[in-house]
Amino acid sequence: MTNQTIYTNSLDLETLKRWMVQQLAPVIHLPHDQVDTSASFLALGLDSVAAVGLTADLEAFLGRTIPPTVVADYPTIDELAGFLIDSGMTATVSPSIEPAKPASPEARPTPPWFKDLAKRGERLREAGDLFEPVLTDVDGCWANVNGRRLLLLSSYSYLGLNGHPRINAAAKKATETIGTGLHAARLIGGTTEIHRDLERTLASFKRTEDALLFSTGYMTNIMTIVSLTSEGDWVIGDAFNHACLVDGGAFSNAKFVTFAHSNMQALETQLQRAGSARKMVVVDGVFSMDGDIAPLPQIVDLCRRYGALLMVDEAHSIGVLGRTGRGVTEHFGLDSTDVDIHMGTLSKSFPSMGGYVAGSRELVAALKYSARGWIFSSSMPAPLIAAAKAAIEVLIDEPQRVERLWTILRRYVDGLRGQGFPVENAQTPIVPIMCKEDRQAFELASGLREEGILVYPIVYPAVPANQPRVRTTVTAAMSDEEVDIAVAALGRVGRRVGLTTI
Ligand SMILES: Cc1ncc(COP(=O)(O)O)c(C=O)c1O
Repeated sequence: MTNQTIYTNSLDLETLKRWMVQQLAPVIHLPHDQVDTSASFLALGLDSVAAVGLTADLEAFLGRTIPPTVVADYPTIDELAGFLIDSGMTATVSPSIEPAKPASPEARPTPPWFKDLAKRGERLREAGDLFEPVLTDVDGCWANVNGRRLLLLSSYSYLGLNGHPRINAAAKKATETIGTGLHAARLIGGTTEIHRDLERTLASFKRTEDALLFSTGYMTNIMTIVSLTSEGDWVIGDAFNHACLVDGGAFSNAKFVTFAHSNMQALETQLQRAGSARKMVVVDGVFSMDGDIAPLPQIVDLCRRYGALLMVDEAHSIGVLGRTGRGVTEHFGLDSTDVDIHMGTLSKSFPSMGGYVAGSRELVAALKYSARGWIFSSSMPAPLIAAAKAAIEVLIDEPQRVERLWTILRRYVDGLRGQGFPVENAQTPIVPIMCKEDRQAFELASGLREEGILVYPIVYPAVPANQPRVRTTVTAAMSDEEVDIAVAALGRVGRRVGLTTI
């Protein structure tokens, strides 16, 4: 039994209001008796940071989670307290009405749940410095780690564009003319001409009417799915989709279901189960852990037949698939209008950061005025915008980079097959080396590290528990000799850890 007194149903409106007055008075620098409980928090001088603090204090006081928007929705002490009491809130700690005293650091031990959460990282720590190695220099497909030069066989810089002089120059010029930060969200001063220019460039590259930028690919997926769907709708995702598509479905108010990986029968079953509800199908164009390509023509066909919206994540297909690198629709010879929502990142083939959605004008307008992560988050810095735009221009001017990537891939896959690795089904520059158990994946990755090759083991929960692997990727930055170095090292370490016998 702790010395914390647990009260239930002991909280009345007046006590809660008094408690809130006592919390707020020191924050807004007013004596208790001058805090007007009917005045809005804004009028009392509560800024958004203090509002978040009040919400957190209320949660601690009441011992339960309350909606994050509560201070905005009930903007006075009277209204907020009334709402909380009406919704059956009870205090789980003694509703002491003494003003809260600031606690000394010693009096605030780490909350136990931090420790529980930190334990989740133990498996990563066991892997030593296999994860999160610190890179000090990156040059093409090489980087320094702990003073050693390692060959990057795990980079997403598919087109080898990182450090391209034209891209660096564009970023530098944007830094000089606009600076490194915009200090504003898009609607209130964070939109510059180069933001709109990049959106137009992306739209034209994807052959759509318009496009919208978000600050990360992760944010793009969450916001797009959450904003475009509501209660009663169905979000239907491939079981191997990237985590941010999964999170988008899970965070939305829609019903979120998955279908067996690239299994069209399973997709059709879910579309039928959804009946007359509004449906949104979300798939990766190229699956990030397996490197296989979604069967897009069949998915397009099913979405048409069942009246579902189709969203495709092109994080690993833009710049990679299609003769000119325009992605999975170009690869299959589809029309851009066959896909409703073309999503992609600027952080893989393009050496920048951010995500985009390309599609119809209505889609972009719908997102602009409903995606809270776009409305309430700061605009992407100009150097990143300029770098992304220059990278797309380089790709348009040098489509041979895509061809080079595929030549490298063929050399790599042939080499691996020669070493006895079963990689004949490799479809894209993501080539997983499947292992029998986690230990083997860790041994393969650390053995390769010793050989001067940087790769990472991928184990559950990133992939199914029985499918550990070392995910390798090749890029157009690699020379034939560098591919051969990687293949030879994989052969040596693969034999040592029992993956291949040749
Ligand atoms: C398929 C896929 N979608 C989205 C993302 C998120 O993109 P970003 O890293 O730009 O947030 C990733 C990142 O690895 C990804 O692999």
